[in-house]
Order: sequence, then C-alpha cells, then structure tokens
Amino acid sequence: MDALKTIKERRSARAFQPVPIPKETVKEILELTINAPSGNNLQPWEFIVVMDEEKDSLNRRLLKAYKEKQISCSSGAVKPLPKAIKKRGVQTLESMKPYVDRIGSSVDSFINEGSCNFYGAPVAVIICLDDCFSARQMVDVGTAVGYLVLAAQASGLATCPIGLITEYADEIKDLLNIPENKKVVIGVALGYPDRENPMSQFKSSRADLSELVRWI
Ligand SMILES: Cc1cc2nc3c(=O)[nH]c(=O)nc-3n(C[C@H](O)[C@H](O)[C@H](O)COP(=O)(O)O)c2cc1C
Repeated sequence: MDALKTIKERRSARAFQPVPIPKETVKEILELTINAPSGNNLQPWEFIVVMDEEKDSLNRRLLKAYKEKQISCSSGAVKPLPKAIKKRGVQTLESMKPYVDRIGSSVDSFINEGSCNFYGAPVAVIICLDDCFSARQMVDVGTAVGYLVLAAQASGLATCPIGLITEYADEIKDLLNIPENKKVVIGVALGYPDRENPMSQFKSSRADLSELVRWI
C-alpha cells in the first residue's frame, strides 16, 4: 500500500472482528515496526504479544482492576492543560458520542471498559521500557508505536494505542510476569477492523496546521 495513503487512512479502531490473527502476520508487522529510528540505535522497546486465552485473562484482569480503581482515560498531564489543547480532547469525545449512542453505550464506559478489553481485538501488544532509561527513550517507543500502527494499516489490520492500561501496570506485570525494572509504556490493540460496527465510521478531526506550526 502507498505510504501516503496508509498515513491518511489510518485511524484508531474501536471495533474489531473476533477473528484470530496468524502469528506470522503479527511477526511481519513487528518486523516492520522495528525499522523505527531510535536514539543511538538502542532499540530500547520490548514487545509482549498477548493472544488467545492469555488475552482473555488480560482483559478480565484489566476490567476487574478498572472496576476496583475506577481510573479513567486521561491526558496524564501533570499540570492543567492549556485551554486550546483541552478543547481538542473535549471535542473528540463529543464528536464520538453519536457513534457510541448507536451502539447503546455511554462514551465514558465505552472508552474505559473498551480500552481495558482492547476493544475486543484478538491481539494486545504491550510495549515496555527498561527503567534505566530517561524520558528521552519514551520518544523511541512513541516512534515505534507510530510505525506499528502504520505497518498494521498497510497490512489490512487496524490498531488502537491504549494508554489507559499504564494505570493498571501492576496487574499487567503480575499477570504477564514482567520484571519489576520494566515500565509498561503503552499497549496497542491489533486486529481486523469490524467495518459493520458504527464505531468504525468515526474519524477524529485535526486542528488546523496554522494552530500547530510557527514558521520562522
Ligand atoms: C499515547 C496514546 C494513548 C492512547 N490511549 C488510548 C486509550 O487508552 N483508549 C483509547 O480508546 N484510545 C487511546 N488512544 C487513541 C487516541 O484517542 C487517538 O489516537 C486520537 O483520538 C486520534 O484519533 P486517531 O488515532 O483515530 O487518528 C491513544 C493514543 C495515543 C497516541
């Protein structure tokens, strides 16, 4: 698939077909993902691919943790967000509402419970980083996520990055035997998109380039 078309057409999927992905396909996507650049070529990312019964156990564990702790999706910001940025988040959730209404849910429970379930995707990729690294290597992981979502899109699959799961990192580490010195940075839901589901019609908007760029 043409790279520009892939970039334009990718969107986060929040409805997946309950169809398993062959291990070979997941491997091909990860082979593409690791072409991502990283500082000093350290390739600090560590991927844990969770599928089949283990994925079901992960969903159950995360949903239980969400019900107990009730920590919802958030920006994770450490200071109040600037108004213009906050507005983008609010607008995104508002524009999602008509689609969520059609599946008979509320945005809040759809997003939070859906995230804990990787929106029903058959595969969850958990990306970890050794705690020896500073925030700089988070950029490497973010870049890898960018490659992963585009590689999946180009392969006819769909993804949704799931940051919420980091709130439940202890539960994930316990279930998946992730050593104490590894940070759970993000998860990515991976599967075949369910194009019949109304959520698949939703596409988030973008701020105008003029809001985001300063030319000098
Ligand atoms: C770091 C990161 C964390 C995210 N966490 C979540 C999440 O927990 N749940 C969710 O439904 N979407 C999550 N998303 C998806 C974003 O909501 C989505 O990328 C954004 O609304 C833009 O929409 P698009 O990906 O369809 O272009 C996350 C995306 C990123 C990059």
